Amino acid sequence: MTKKTIIFLIIMSLAIGLSAATLKSPNGNFTLDFSLQNDGTPTYSLTYKGKTVIKPSKLGFEIKGDQNGDFSGAWVTDKEAQSSLHSNFQIADTKTAAFDETWKPVWGEEKEIRNHYNELAVLLKQQQSNRQMLIRFRLFNDGLGFRYEFPEQKELTYFIIEEELTQFAMAGDHKAIWIPGDYDTQEYDYTISKLSEIRGLFAKAITGNTSQTPIYPLSVQTSLQMKSAEGLYINLHEAALINFSCMNLTLDDRDFIFQAHLTPDAQGNKGHIQAPSVSPWRTVIVSEDARDILASRITLNLNEPCKIADVSWIKPVKYIGVWWEMITGKSEWSYTNDFSTVQIGISDYAAAKPHGRHAATTENVKKYIDFAAKHGFGGVLVEGWNIGWEDWFDKSKDFVFDFVTPYPDFDVKELHRYAKSKGVKLIMHHETSASTRNYERHLDAAYQFMKDNGYDAVKSGYVGDMLPRGEHHYSQWIVNHYQYCVEKAADYQIMVNAHEAVRPTGICRTYPNLIGNESARGTEYQAFGGNTANHATVLPFTRQIGGPMDYTPGIFEQDISKLNPNNHSHVNATIANQLAMYVTLYSPLQMAADLPENYDRFPDAFQFIKDVAVDWDETRYLEAEPGEYLTIARRAKGTNDWYIGGVSGYNAHTADIKLDFLPKGKTCEATIYQDAPNAHYKTNPQAYVISKIKVTDKSKLKAFAAPGGGFAVSIKEVK
Ligand code: NOJ
Ligand code: CA
Repeated sequence: MTKKTIIFLIIMSLAIGLSAATLKSPNGNFTLDFSLQNDGTPTYSLTYKGKTVIKPSKLGFEIKGDQNGDFSGAWVTDKEAQSSLHSNFQIADTKTAAFDETWKPVWGEEKEIRNHYNELAVLLKQQQSNRQMLIRFRLFNDGLGFRYEFPEQKELTYFIIEEELTQFAMAGDHKAIWIPGDYDTQEYDYTISKLSEIRGLFAKAITGNTSQTPIYPLSVQTSLQMKSAEGLYINLHEAALINFSCMNLTLDDRDFIFQAHLTPDAQGNKGHIQAPSVSPWRTVIVSEDARDILASRITLNLNEPCKIADVSWIKPVKYIGVWWEMITGKSEWSYTNDFSTVQIGISDYAAAKPHGRHAATTENVKKYIDFAAKHGFGGVLVEGWNIGWEDWFDKSKDFVFDFVTPYPDFDVKELHRYAKSKGVKLIMHHETSASTRNYERHLDAAYQFMKDNGYDAVKSGYVGDMLPRGEHHYSQWIVNHYQYCVEKAADYQIMVNAHEAVRPTGICRTYPNLIGNESARGTEYQAFGGNTANHATVLPFTRQIGGPMDYTPGIFEQDISKLNPNNHSHVNATIANQLAMYVTLYSPLQMAADLPENYDRFPDAFQFIKDVAVDWDETRYLEAEPGEYLTIARRAKGTNDWYIGGVSGYNAHTADIKLDFLPKGKTCEATIYQDAPNAHYKTNPQAYVISKIKVTDKSKLKAFAAPGGGFAVSIKEVK
């Protein structure tokens, strides 16, 4: 898969006695300075074109021994010195290297990705104990990645992380797009404020109510997008989160210093490490042009190459689903209210009286299959097909779903036959209700059941408090659970789209069967009260720095009371905005989430969703300002067809688009779907205009996005 690999290894110095080292990015724009303070505390700083991005910031860990308080092999008797992996260091060795490789992702925003960096590896040794820790820095043309490595050594084999002490000292009171540093949900609306304003807005961001006191320290989640007063865009995140706790960032809002704050486990520990071992990469993406943040592939590049030998079964897909009708409350996941006959574990569903609102019936699913076949969708997701939804929230029973037993009105074999006859694949649903051990126990049987019945993709979910009790959604143990499921799924040739799992960190490079994650506030919240109208302009800069999102766009009916009279939510997006997201919000898995009957009302707009691709050879970021607008053009895999999407925030936006990326000298037809001049996400969301014009690579287009709106364009060569 590797086109060309050039690796130089230059041993820079045998650095005994040295206390500093410097690294430059391949283009020279970035300078990283590493140095030891007088007490042996490692620090780093980062500049971009001479501007300070990260002021001198500390590195290291506070650690403790095993349950008995022992450090294997460590002879230091002083407790204080034992617990420190943050000072008393000397540089034992430094090495630099350069790397330049172009690789091909299995699916993605482009067909080739360049991984080009200079590397500095600093081996540190603690004077008294002889313990070693290596810090590896990789400086790319668009930013920095660094991680900790714990080499195999007698002096430090097993240890517990009390806290990671990595700092990111900001050079000013930047504007930030943030969500609070929760351990169990990422499904927040984003707040845009200065760093100095986060404290005042924190409680409100968590609870929506300023009178409540938040239980978390003043902290934010990554990916965190910032903008400095002088117009520098800075993004902090992590890459390759494997066998480690997920990182939030606490904020010292007097000096604007972020510090790593790892998700605790049930005991309050931040991680159990056995050397040799490495931390995830900490990433800093920087540019004066917001488009470069979206174009950065640092997160993917810092992950290991693909570990799946045969990837022929991994396929991007557009899908519909028996889903929105339950989310809006029009129908139900469950089958019965008859609790006298239904008790999980000893259920007798056949004898239970159905409540009549069950959505996943054979008949209803066939309607969705027909619609998918008619309009060219590859997949149909069905939720609520399996027993257990009656008391799935009841954690007093450490047994919930078994993932293999359908409700009496869902005929697995018949639906397999029917879907196959129509050329459609059913997509499995596994709601685990966050009972991770229960899921692990059933996983082989559940995946085998899928294979036996023609399913090759699963949407999994982790709603509610974690079991085992006291664990958090993003602690090391649970992070390992998600990884275990993805790797086991690969053994079964199953694609995974995990909801409520830890936010992605580019692991889809290594395991491209991880084709989707939710891990942020998705479309479902449009039916739970609504999302902010600039959400679509923010997600690519925040949540999506780690990987694709199963946002499930495509809602054409904004008035949810039309589906369920008891639900008064309003979808804060115009129809044109929903179309645009198929391009602006990259995902190899795209849902058309609304009900078939709503698509039948707007067949001309629906045409764009039918046409748009899900896999790409080339992407151009045409304009971007997080929170305000962004416009992206992509060329569909293996074709000359281009799709453009543009979304706006709370203000209307007109994009001037140069079509100079079109095939030279060829006449093409562009179909433009845009908000009508009087469209508005609240008051007039269904007002769109569709036009067709002839264009060439010399043409310019103007496209209009209303408040909370957007536009979408499909361009095909005229043959
Ligand atoms: C939350 C998920 O995000 C949603 O898509 C799903 O339908 C429900 N959980 C039920 O599993
Ligand atoms: Ca969710």
